Amino acid sequence: MNSDADVGEIPLVAGQLPVHVAIIMDGNGRWAEARGEPRHAGHRAGVASVRSTIEECIRHGIQVLTLFAFSSENWRRPKAEINLLMDLFLSSLQRELKRMQSNEIQLRVVGDISAFPEKLQKRIRASEQATCGNRRLVLQIAANYGGRWDIIQAARKLAVAARSGDIVPEDIDEKVFARATSINDVPDPDLFIRTGGERRISNFLLWHSAYTELYFTSALWPDFDAAEFRRALDDYARRQRRFGQTGAQLEASD
Ligand code: IPE
Ligand code: IPE
Ligand code: MG
Repeated sequence: MNSDADVGEIPLVAGQLPVHVAIIMDGNGRWAEARGEPRHAGHRAGVASVRSTIEECIRHGIQVLTLFAFSSENWRRPKAEINLLMDLFLSSLQRELKRMQSNEIQLRVVGDISAFPEKLQKRIRASEQATCGNRRLVLQIAANYGGRWDIIQAARKLAVAARSGDIVPEDIDEKVFARATSINDVPDPDLFIRTGGERRISNFLLWHSAYTELYFTSALWPDFDAAEFRRALDDYARRQRRFGQTGAQLEASD
């Protein structure tokens, strides 16, 4: 089957497209191991999937894409793999800046980047600054990110604000709390994709995915192409998002 030829043939119903897609890009290591190659070959191959997923988001008019690149737990990996991932992140940022500009992509890195090598931190800040005026797609790379870290840093910020008298504890509601998280000016993800076959959230967007539609695929990240992405979008388009209401209520309001 020439899967690429199918992509884009049937228009998705407008309004049933997600505004914000979040992805756990998993399965790079297994992809490489299955080929008898070292794990880093899988991470390198995964960069092409990042590129094609970004292109598909732009083609479909998806406004926000959040990619989980390195979790707060990934520090537990062998040092050599961590170093390789840092190098890959740095070289990808360098190589992709032009393309981000021409595609009007606004890059944001979410997570505690203070733990990264100084050179990488500088490159991150420079890329964010260079692209901050772009409006076509907000690309959030979650790096040294953890959902629990994000909730804790928000709680700390609010505690400091309460101690200094800028807010009182009663001011803290869902809106105020959400604003204190590190993902605070885009809508919550509509669609959450995890490749690689595992059915878990692995400490990704804990606060923000309270009502996100989850989609799990066994496709390994380097194999996640436009056709795989389209399958996820098709699946999402068939979901009924009820947010606590009944199906009948939603149908009556259509
Ligand atoms: C995801 O692929 C990439 C990162 C976590 C950085 P993995 O490296 O987790 O690949 P598998 O799950 O071992 O196959
Ligand atoms: C989640 O993948 C993190 C990223 C994709 C960056 P992992 O491969 O680290 O997740 P676990 O350890 O299998 O849950
Ligand atoms: Mg994994």
